[in-house]
Amino acid sequence: MRRPGRADMEVGPVTRLCVSLTEACGADMLRAMHGLPRYADIVELRLDYLQEQGAAARSALQSICHSKDRPIIVTCRPAREGGRFEGPEAERLDLLRRAATHGPDYVDVELDSVSALGALPGGTRRIVSYHNFERTPPELEDIYRRVAAAGADVAKLAVRALDILDTPPVLALLERHAASMPTIALSMGEEGLPTRVLAAKYGAFLSYASLAPGKGSADGQVPYEEMEGLYRFSRISRRTSVYGVVANPVAHSMSPAIHNAAFAEVGLDAVYLPFKVTDPAAFLDAYERHDLRGLSVTIPHKEAMVPLMDEVDELTARIGALNTVTVRNGRRYGSNTDVAAALAALEHAARQAGLLPLERRAALLVGAGGAGRAIAYGLAGRVGRLIIANRTVWRGRKLAGEIGAEACGLHDIPALSFDILINTTSVGMHPNTDETPVAASVLRPGMVVFDAVYNPIETRLLCEARQAGCVTASGFEWFVSQAAAQFETWTGMPAPRARMAEVVRERLSLR
Ligand code: ATR
Repeated sequence: MRRPGRADMEVGPVTRLCVSLTEACGADMLRAMHGLPRYADIVELRLDYLQEQGAAARSALQSICHSKDRPIIVTCRPAREGGRFEGPEAERLDLLRRAATHGPDYVDVELDSVSALGALPGGTRRIVSYHNFERTPPELEDIYRRVAAAGADVAKLAVRALDILDTPPVLALLERHAASMPTIALSMGEEGLPTRVLAAKYGAFLSYASLAPGKGSADGQVPYEEMEGLYRFSRISRRTSVYGVVANPVAHSMSPAIHNAAFAEVGLDAVYLPFKVTDPAAFLDAYERHDLRGLSVTIPHKEAMVPLMDEVDELTARIGALNTVTVRNGRRYGSNTDVAAALAALEHAARQAGLLPLERRAALLVGAGGAGRAIAYGLAGRVGRLIIANRTVWRGRKLAGEIGAEACGLHDIPALSFDILINTTSVGMHPNTDETPVAASVLRPGMVVFDAVYNPIETRLLCEARQAGCVTASGFEWFVSQAAAQFETWTGMPAPRARMAEVVRERLSLR
């Protein structure tokens, strides 16, 4: 039984998870349907993907309808609305009419074909749909009213999001209508993903999912296993808090995996989404009203977010960059858990190596990019001597000048004396795992070596450092620590660190 207690209207109507089946033959569709778990409440048979035509298609459909194990939607989308059916319109409508005689629960028909289709046999309800594959038109409400007035039992709008800012109007439409009229509204494309998941928060009639990666019937559809396994779709309700990562690009971020797993582990009613953002100010304004409680912020928005906060902590103010936003009682707090976590990891390793206090130690920071800058600002004034070595020497010198550190080129490293070595370049990162930013000959027993690279978990640098008798700190631990600190900042609860580390390990091994 899904969602015990979800029937009360306070949390809104239950949103079905609909798996769209795009198999090329009816037998495969039938097999796919029977292989689905119970939480896939409904399936859509995309007749336009079937290679069988005419009588063969009807007979395939008949056998699926007769052995169905959950409600069925029949759809035959024409090419002009983004589907695969390229035959004459009369043939398509005839197929839908005949399909309806086998007793599917729903037939999906486009707004411009609904009157031509005519009446359906009793018991089969009508989803009237509107698609726009180009953009999100501003007149969504007008379109919705036309769809709803066209004899729809369920009104459906699917529009392309070109920017994350196209998605709030779609969520607002669901919020206005889904409680009183069965409504499907979604944004297609990568930017539209939040609407597919938050459909459940606003009581949409359903949200579509694909059978497997690459098998979707529309751009941006998420595989059903991910909808449930990653986003816990069946547990999302009106009360669910929203978190996410703000980035561009965002597709490869590991943050949704790590944070959703953490929320699941402690049983928190929260979901964490990828937000592909171009305008952070407008994004914050638009999503705060959708119960946004916290954000991870990454490239390229770490600096731009700072002036958008009501308050930032001392480290964030000093660095001028944040990675964490917490929204509480309508106020925005900015903090920087990645720098704090890096400093904590360094202190921990320095304690093990007997190198505390840091004020008496010399640190060599390799790299002066985004990660290098952040750690350099964090370390400034905390170590006795800070040297920044960068391939492009002027960039290292510029950073060093800002914080009162020294600068040099990579070839100067062998002549330097230091206790702590920190790599913030991407050298050694997968797939170039045989590379290392510094020669093993500079590594001495008792040094602390910290590598910001987390894929692979043990880089060549860390492996050589371990062999040389150094105390090592890994980018993997750093990544998990900054995420755990975000979780604690947002929730005030201890982070389920072991589970979070396990998720990152799993994801890294998949890659
Ligand atoms: P991030 O935000 O992850 O720090 P970045 O801002 O692109 O990424 O910075 C990359 C850092 O790695 C820079 O210090 C870069 O050196 P340059 O300033 O000379 O570009 C350094 N880096 C990248 N590839 C490198 C390589 N093959 N050898 C040495 N340094 C490298």
